[in-house]
Amino acid sequence: MKVLVTGGAGYIGSHTVVQLVEAGHEPVIVDNFVNSSPGVLDRINEITGREIEFHEADLTDVKKTLQLFDEVRPEAVIHFASLKAVGESVEKPLMYFRNNLDSALSVAEAMGSVGCQNIIFSSSATVYGDGDVPMNENQEYLRSDSPYGRTKIMIEQILTDVAAAHSIHVALLRYFNPVGAHESGLIGEDPLGIPNNLMPYVAQVAAGRRERLTVHGGDYDTPDGTCLRDYLHVVDLAEGHVKALECIAEGNVSVRAWNLGRGRAVSVLEIVHAFKEASGVDVPYVIGPRRAGDLPSVWADPSRARDELGWTAERTVADMCADTWRWQSSNPDGYRAS
Ligand code: NAD
Ligand code: WQD
Repeated sequence: MKVLVTGGAGYIGSHTVVQLVEAGHEPVIVDNFVNSSPGVLDRINEITGREIEFHEADLTDVKKTLQLFDEVRPEAVIHFASLKAVGESVEKPLMYFRNNLDSALSVAEAMGSVGCQNIIFSSSATVYGDGDVPMNENQEYLRSDSPYGRTKIMIEQILTDVAAAHSIHVALLRYFNPVGAHESGLIGEDPLGIPNNLMPYVAQVAAGRRERLTVHGGDYDTPDGTCLRDYLHVVDLAEGHVKALECIAEGNVSVRAWNLGRGRAVSVLEIVHAFKEASGVDVPYVIGPRRAGDLPSVWADPSRARDELGWTAERTVADMCADTWRWQSSNPDGYRAS
């Protein structure tokens, strides 16, 4: 299938483009590099042995998006393009609503203009708010305590309404905590500035770019006092997109949500210890205060994706750490050096 991958220069998008090629599909990337670097494109080409078609465009521009779809004529869209920093979204809500909602609206409108019927949307476990764990797709009310999270809930609703009116097929993929990198070490997560998320921060401490990790809270009601999350390898996540694409393209799904997680709760300190083990490098840390808004425990019930998509995340925490370390140690400055 010819698949337009919006935000395909980003962390999850770049890994998904590689898995799409591996599965025999034809990805086309669109991105405006608001949170990524052009250097990733050569790396993707190197891994796949192809010259992947790329378009630079801001998807909030409806006119440009319509032109793009007219030129590319995709059979499916995987819509990753979004701003994603939870804290920043609290400080700049309008920027988040403008970018994330306008991009999604442009894409939905452009799909209609060329008769494209399949879309996979990057949603997030944040839509479950502080719901019961393990989190499953049947939770009645979605809620999120950040503007970022609310853009995910709103876009899920927008796509549901569009599907009802125009008979398109929509997969809402709710990711838990994607980490890791492609096993080649050529692509990985390349945050601009100080990382917000745990794994890239740990990797930069191990690499000597940062002095030590601050663990946000050691007094939670969890086995070791630190928060529990459901980390999954980004290549498993990318494979989940291919499975979801092939499922909705059969035409039997109107709108369906699937959790993509491992269903395993892993603590912050378990990540730190696993990273030391995988890298052979010390990761100094201090226990600091709790971070505002953090939930003690978040993990998935991944059984729906297993039963309906035939997908399970096979890669272990050790794999996630080893692959992150290979990427970090061979690209200390990310793509900026390439
Ligand atoms: P990322 O920032 O690495 O990738 C997003 C890409 O979208 C970037 O390359 C950015 O330049 C591009 N983009 C943003 N706005 C754009 C616009 N208006 N026009 C064109 N391109 C635009 O993020 P990621 O981690 O790869 O996340 C991909 C998707 O998955 C996002 O929708 C994110 O919200 C969602 N998600 C991520 C996580 C996570 O932990 N990484 C978890 C759950 C959901
Ligand atoms: C994991 C754990 C931190 C950094 C976020 C978004 C969520 C989703 C995924 C997009 C927590 C602890 C972290 C550090 C730490 N994104 N931590 N020191 O918060 O589960 O989820 O990313 O949809 O919406 O909220 O991920 O990696 O930030 O944190 O102790 O320097 O690591 O407190 O317990 P989180 P994270």
